[in-house]
Amino acid sequence: MKSPGAGFSRRVIEWQTSHGRHALPWQSTRDPYRVWLSEIMLQQTQVATVLGYYDRFLQRFPDVQALAAADIDEVFALWSGLGYYSRARNLHRCAQAVVAEHGGRFPPTSAALAQLPGIGRSTAAAIAAFCFGERVAILDGNVKRVLTRVLAFDGDLAVAANERELWALATRLLPVTGIEAYTQGLMDLGATICMQRSPQCLLCPVRTECIASRSGNPRDFPVKSRKLKRGRREHVWLWLRWRDRLWLSQRPDTGVWAGLWSLPEYESAELFDAAAAGWPGDGERLASFTHVLTHLDWRLHPVRWTLQAELPHTSVDAVTATLVPGRWFSLDEALAAGLPAPLRKLLNAG
Ligand code: ADE
Repeated sequence: MKSPGAGFSRRVIEWQTSHGRHALPWQSTRDPYRVWLSEIMLQQTQVATVLGYYDRFLQRFPDVQALAAADIDEVFALWSGLGYYSRARNLHRCAQAVVAEHGGRFPPTSAALAQLPGIGRSTAAAIAAFCFGERVAILDGNVKRVLTRVLAFDGDLAVAANERELWALATRLLPVTGIEAYTQGLMDLGATICMQRSPQCLLCPVRTECIASRSGNPRDFPVKSRKLKRGRREHVWLWLRWRDRLWLSQRPDTGVWAGLWSLPEYESAELFDAAAAGWPGDGERLASFTHVLTHLDWRLHPVRWTLQAELPHTSVDAVTATLVPGRWFSLDEALAAGLPAPLRKLLNAG
């Protein structure tokens, strides 16, 4: 395979300097806390979505000490709607590790950063390149797309040995100087020019170096055989109300909406009807909807069940004893907690 020479990194740097993105809030700093936060938020999430969350988060947690000292529920609340909640949990853990193990300063090398919770190899490299000028390769999803096209690298990236080879090639392409602009340039190319379905090759600064573009088939790269198998899931969602309260339970630490407060779930309408058969009060079926996750279509059927206000605690306790463990929240308290986005929407609408 003929590989592009030093012209490649020079073109990326020149293009980033004249055409890349420069006004993003995390670009005007070398503070590893701010850069780290942006990189974690930007994983699987677009810049436009991240901007508002980023500002709110920094206002509430201006430094790593503030974040480490926070209650995890408040972290989830500020993350609510960004998705992939394990990121929020790891963010909190990472802040605590930086304070406990590194005296409140992020370690200044990609190797040490990659040891921290939630920081993978590519994120560690991005932080080290942006904050400390370390000459080290990044390889997130966007950059894999750019480099496999430029190199016409047709190894299946589901195979670990091929991915390792691509890391080695990415390292060989690094410029001698200008790592910050080069790193940002690769990200910007991936996000704005070298798009998955409609690469804008005519606008691309490295098209003359790009083997896939020259041969006319950039969309054939990257090659990844293991397709994500989408699952389906279906549940009745119980919105139980009593007086001005609703019942929420905290989801487990792993899986969808890890750690967030949510409604009790039932595997089927039959199971729910059986559970609710003896309950006082009234149930009302609300409109069903599908919540689409990366790996899963989740069909939810909300039922709003209202217990009479005058019911005594003992009767109410008899109902909640049959539910997944949780507690009563006022509506305001619930909306201030870490909630899954569709639940927030449901509560605001209802
Ligand atoms: N995606 C991941 N990191 C990014 C960054 N620093 N700027 C823009 N998009 C990104």
